[in-house]
Amino acid sequence: MRIAFSSDHGGADLKRELVDRLASMDSRLTLIDLGGDGSDPLDDYPDFSLRLGRFVADGAADRGVLICGSGVGAAIAANKVTGVRASVCHDTYSAGQGVTHDDMNILCLGARVVGIELAIAGVQAFVGATFSTEPRHRRRVAKVLAIEAAHGQIDEAQLDGVTAGAAR
Ligand code: RB5
Repeated sequence: MRIAFSSDHGGADLKRELVDRLASMDSRLTLIDLGGDGSDPLDDYPDFSLRLGRFVADGAADRGVLICGSGVGAAIAANKVTGVRASVCHDTYSAGQGVTHDDMNILCLGARVVGIELAIAGVQAFVGATFSTEPRHRRRVAKVLAIEAAHGQIDEAQLDGVTAGAAR
């Protein structure tokens, strides 16, 4: 499974440690670090949500892990990208059930909320889960996708300034 990671300055240290630790723990995972590097304390979480959201939505990774200070802003922004189903999960139950029931494809973490061990456990629960084949879950996600199709149109011209900000 290919897992892509991205973070703003609030999440860069946790991301780095998470990728390092996971690399030494699970050789079945292909880990792709899309940055940022945390060097700019004025960087903006939506830039990284857009970068990772597009990467996952385009199929370049199977799932994504997005980290900011709380996980909240990153999740809000990522969910604006068509094809992304992101949520903050700071417990392993939600990180797994978010995939099983809701087909979550981006796990968001808050580096100011969780430590490295809970972050690792959350990612393991996330990548170890698969979307249920039960009709009730498929029906519900289909309704989510219908809402997205009706309301989620992206105007690319409006994104020019945003994509320019996601350089590191
Ligand atoms: C950055 O200081 C912080 O606001 C951001 O990382 C995140 O927590 C937003 O939700």
